[in-house]
Amino acid sequence: MSLPATLEYANGKVILLDQTRLPLEKIFLEINDAQTMWEAIKVLRVRGAPAIGGAAAFGLWLGVREIVDGTTRAEFLEQLQTVRDYLATSRPTAVNLFWALDRVNNAAKNSSLQTAGELKAFVLEEALSIQREDIEMCRAIGEHGANELEQVLPEGSSILTHCNAGALATMGLGTALAPVYVALERGRAIHVFADETRPLLQGARITAWELHEAGVPVTLITDNMAATVMRGPRINSSDGQKVGAVIVGTDRVAANGDFANKIGTYGVALLARAHGIPFYVAAPSSTIDLNTANGDGIEIELRDRDEVTSFGARVTAPAGVNVFNPAFDVTPGNLVTGFITERGVMRAPYLESLKQF
Ligand code: MRU
Repeated sequence: MSLPATLEYANGKVILLDQTRLPLEKIFLEINDAQTMWEAIKVLRVRGAPAIGGAAAFGLWLGVREIVDGTTRAEFLEQLQTVRDYLATSRPTAVNLFWALDRVNNAAKNSSLQTAGELKAFVLEEALSIQREDIEMCRAIGEHGANELEQVLPEGSSILTHCNAGALATMGLGTALAPVYVALERGRAIHVFADETRPLLQGARITAWELHEAGVPVTLITDNMAATVMRGPRINSSDGQKVGAVIVGTDRVAANGDFANKIGTYGVALLARAHGIPFYVAAPSSTIDLNTANGDGIEIELRDRDEVTSFGARVTAPAGVNVFNPAFDVTPGNLVTGFITERGVMRAPYLESLKQF
């Protein structure tokens, strides 16, 4: 099984796979400053909540690495705070972005390090720790999720996923797709239906590509086919498979279990409920935001109208038409069968079970 690396650090260089170019081109970008990292997050060259967090942490280091020797601790921390605040404006919904930026910034503030050289090395080490921990969390989510699927997923049935919460959305195995990869390692190839995910097609461009590269059987569907596929193989879908479970990722889980994920997730959750299909959300603890009481408190990113009025380079809507383009929606926690986390599967009532994070 070969999984692509989203973000790599080696010999002083931060390298990103440019996800806007997938699946046609596999282009790696060397990111040299915080401004270029901000742009990469904004335009989705790097995307997916845990990957955004990791990228921002490295962006913070890029923003302070040129600070000269002799700079005082106070001046260094002031510059670090400025870069933190700047990177925090790149995207609003994924809590991992703020979690990672605050973790690095606060750790530097709370350290007793004095010189710019020591502080720079410390910031880099903290970014690398976030990356290492993300890899471990994805693995643990995969193990717990694969155990759960062994219990609930009938032999020969599929999972359905929306957007991309795979390796390319994290720095490890992914969240929603990690159980599929672990199941494959255990000798069970689980077939996946991938929703195309309009308007930016993360399901088609990224999930279908990533699964295909890894040798996982995958069938791509447009978003409006999910109901038919969940209803069952009355129409011959390419594999004639029935959906046995839905697994999606998330950008932020509120204390009561309401969660934000790619626009369209709420509809998929309602469809799963209507068809009696278990609906799971896979999330590392860095995505759980106990400071947000419920879904109403999650800021939803609104994106450019052009994403909806065109398909690639082709314009598909009349000039000047009103457009609504929220990048995410909020699904109520009562539609969630369980949150697959690195500490196991959390069940309702979520106000209680999520408290430990
Ligand atoms: O706009 P994107 O591509 O960053 O949206 C990504 C998603 O919605 C993912 O499902 C979510 O970030 C979880 S990634 C493990």
